[in-house]
Amino acid sequence: MTVQLRATVNGVIRDLPRDGRRLVHWLREDLGLTGTKHPCGSGHCGGCSVLVDGRVTLSCMTLATVLDGARITTVEGLAEMEDVLHRCFVEQGAVQCGFCTPGMVMAARAYLDSLGDRPASERGIREALAGNICRCTGYAQIVRAVATASEISQANHAYKEVSGCVT
Ligand code: FES
Ligand code: FES
Repeated sequence: MTVQLRATVNGVIRDLPRDGRRLVHWLREDLGLTGTKHPCGSGHCGGCSVLVDGRVTLSCMTLATVLDGARITTVEGLAEMEDVLHRCFVEQGAVQCGFCTPGMVMAARAYLDSLGDRPASERGIREALAGNICRCTGYAQIVRAVATASEISQANHAYKEVSGCVT
């Protein structure tokens, strides 16, 4: 009997393929999650980044089959949660062609999550995004977008503490 391999993608349990495909192809071709890009296909650009159990993962370098039991989040999953990063990227002019943006957003989300309640630093942002290549923006707007998202998150957290919403 063949045991079915499964992973959770953006909160939905999915049967994993056994045909040796990379995660990026399964997400795009089978699940229609085309927000995850495939710019280089060789692990060099970061454009295919997703979160696997909260860690930034290059989906072009990852076999889908090995992800049994994993929790996968794509840029569509963050959009459903109305992640503040999306709004900040747009408002700060951090999106031009947009090809790198999903990978940038995923790497930035992992970085902000790793900070907990602490604020982001420019150095930390640049280190977190070091594996993500953008040909358009010159990075300044992207760094500003992530810093702004951090500031908004901090302000929201402080408001909740003051108003008693945080237990
Ligand atoms: S497509 Fe995966 S790193 Fe470029
Ligand atoms: S916005 Fe074009 S590659 Fe980054």
